Amino acid sequence: MNKSTVVLVSFFMVSASAFAFSGGPPDGKTGAPGEGTCNDCHDGSGGTTTVSGPDTYVPGTAYTIEVEVADSSAMRWGFEAVVLDENGDQAGSVTITDPTNPQDSTSGGKTYVKHTSAGTFPGTGGSATWSFDWEPDAYVGIVTVYAAGNSANNDGSTTGDKTSLGTWNIDPDDTAVEPASFGKVKSMYN
Ligand code: HEC
Repeated sequence: MNKSTVVLVSFFMVSASAFAFSGGPPDGKTGAPGEGTCNDCHDGSGGTTTVSGPDTYVPGTAYTIEVEVADSSAMRWGFEAVVLDENGDQAGSVTITDPTNPQDSTSGGKTYVKHTSAGTFPGTGGSATWSFDWEPDAYVGIVTVYAAGNSANNDGSTTGDKTSLGTWNIDPDDTAVEPASFGKVKSMYN
């Protein structure tokens, strides 16, 4: 092989992996304001995407966020999630605690958590669940986890798959905020 053949072959290998969407969808498809969804390419709607996590947060504490996608007829699964503040900016940081099933990637300062190829659970009926850790670094008001899920039919294409959306809000922990503001009030009188 001459040099240009090698370059060409590696180009096709790279583009083949870049287009293996079942190994991870493109960033920015969570259904958050201004974003697309899996429906940009996959053709149906249905199933449910349920996000769960803590009700409140304290900066510096790690919390587990779970995304469940369910549909009675689907046989393969996928999701993408992002954790944003009220301005639509990345809130805190994400840690992948189960690298087999979700993975993350960063675009435009936002971290997208999404299925891996193994994490599409091909041939598994009913539902799929992924989890990851999220850790806030400051009080940034109400934080929202946005997730898009895909209940797919395991045919290796974008047809016959159902997209659904889910969100979860996390409030700043008031009881943890209080001592700080109490301290501020107190310092006014000292
Ligand atoms: C830019 C187009 C595009 C977007 C957006 C997209 N996908 Fe896909 N997806 C594909 C293509 C093409 C395939 C089929 C080829 C493959 O398996 O990689 C596919 C395959 C899949 C499969 C396997 C389907 C089956 O029936 O076997 C799953 C699961 C999946 N995607 C999940 C998602 C999820 C979840 C999202 C949204 C967060 C998403 N995709 C967004 C293009 C896309």
